[in-house]
Amino acid sequence: MDISTEDYERFCRYLESASGITLGANKGYLIRSRLSRIMEEVNAPTLGALLNLLDRSSSASLKVRVIDAMTTNETLWFRDEYPFEILKDTIFPEIGGPRGLPVRIWSAASSSGQEAYSVSMTVSEYQQARPGTLSAGVQILGTDIAPSVLRQAREGVYDELEINRGLSAERRSRFFTRDGAKLRVREELKARVEFRECNLLQAFSMLGPFDVVFCRNVLIYFSNDNKRDILARIAKTLKPKGYLFLGGSEPLASYSQEFEMVRCPRGVVYRLRG
Ligand SMILES: C[S@@+](CC[C@H](N)C(=O)[O-])C[C@H]1O[C@@H](n2cnc3c(N)ncnc32)[C@H](O)[C@@H]1O
Repeated sequence: MDISTEDYERFCRYLESASGITLGANKGYLIRSRLSRIMEEVNAPTLGALLNLLDRSSSASLKVRVIDAMTTNETLWFRDEYPFEILKDTIFPEIGGPRGLPVRIWSAASSSGQEAYSVSMTVSEYQQARPGTLSAGVQILGTDIAPSVLRQAREGVYDELEINRGLSAERRSRFFTRDGAKLRVREELKARVEFRECNLLQAFSMLGPFDVVFCRNVLIYFSNDNKRDILARIAKTLKPKGYLFLGGSEPLASYSQEFEMVRCPRGVVYRLRG
């Protein structure tokens, strides 16, 4: 598929306004590899023809498929490890006493669910080590813009390749059951996790309030303006002194002054200023 400069630029504008994802220069290969099947199916010989179809008001489902295909859903269990250590060592001891309300945690770009279920495993392990804590329960919400990864997250079924990315043998046998050639998340983990579709460019205040938000490895795809806007709105969904985890390579300072950095032995977390 040849892509004209005009179609490339038009597609970049379309993708950013629909999802926030900024493609940058020279990503024609990404468009080709991710969209050629859809284009064949809808009989769009060029990117321009696909954009014309997307411009028609009746093509909402095509829009969802194109955005879904253009997302990068790379994820793994206990990604970077330190956020889950900080949950156990710092956050749960602080908020996990008998406060009467469930602790609410949001995985704001959950992809296929590994982050949300890693939080759920962390809760199980914390409660096993300290019976009686987090007694009002923990509710974990996973959201993403891409319906295909949300389907897998809700099902909670993973193949060996996915399972082997970050999961210890002990956690694998404790928290998963075999399902043919795949592994299925146990009900104990699923019971506290819910997945919903949410585009971070759109309103999400009704999902809150949260004690902890994970917004990891997604803001890197967005413009500085969108980063600032999303972080300002995340601050509003957090409870006073609520915590925010960003990806390891995503500094906060230039995008928000509403958080203070809390340095922990193995990494940093941000806390809403009181
Ligand atoms: C690289 S994954 C990160 C998954 C997980 N947070 C982690 O750190 O392992 C990025 C996710 O962000 C999602 N995403 C991209 N744009 C989004 C948007 N506008 N709103 C919500 N999710 C979005 C993608 O669908 C993808 O699943």
